[in-house]
Amino acid sequence: MRLDVFTLFPPWFEWFESQRHVRNAVAAGSELRYHDLRATTPLSAGQVDDSPYGGGAGMVMRVDVIDAALQAAYGDARTGRRIVLLTPSGRMLDDELVTELAAEPDLALICGRYEGVDERVRDHLVTDAVSIGRYVLAGGELAAMVVADAVLRKIPGSLGHADSALEESYSSALEGDPEYPHYTRPPTYRGWDIPEVLVSGDHAKVREWRRDRSRERGDPREERA
Ligand code: 6GU
Repeated sequence: MRLDVFTLFPPWFEWFESQRHVRNAVAAGSELRYHDLRATTPLSAGQVDDSPYGGGAGMVMRVDVIDAALQAAYGDARTGRRIVLLTPSGRMLDDELVTELAAEPDLALICGRYEGVDERVRDHLVTDAVSIGRYVLAGGELAAMVVADAVLRKIPGSLGHADSALEESYSSALEGDPEYPHYTRPPTYRGWDIPEVLVSGDHAKVREWRRDRSRERGDPREERA
């Protein structure tokens, strides 16, 4: 996958890139690039935002600034590319959307800042608007890292163990349910024991126990409704 991040704060992603699974994804052939929105702004003095039409507090990121950044990165070859705007009013991120994005050969993440982004970005320049939850962050950078983190760990070779992403929370292997509980040594700690079935050696029983516990934790999508 080629992943492009458009942001006012490229250095924030240095920490993100130092994570093992991100480095593994890069070693396995994925490419991460960061584009500083100020570097390509058509306005003077690195301006990227402006006051909102209709009045009100705060500043709004300009459509021409985002357009210029996309133009510098892709030229006119934008069609077919998945271009995602991170915004609290976007489609809620879940495992289904992560899986969908992980299948894209090219993915762009645009981090909004300030009070918002000119709506014409959403209407004309991007293919998706994505939110990571019902709360407001000061900017899209942390949200972009959440999306990139979740997407890159789905890429074959990014996790140490090939199966670790298969049977995890919200995956289709668990029918969308959260993951079952895990235990490791010691078998008893301060009187807290591990479930007997896990040391029974009966693999079918272990599978059944895990599936039951996973179901028990339930589907949070139903809770929300
Ligand atoms: Cl994608 N951006 C911002 N600024 N806040 C958010 C968000 C995104 N998702 C949830 N809150």
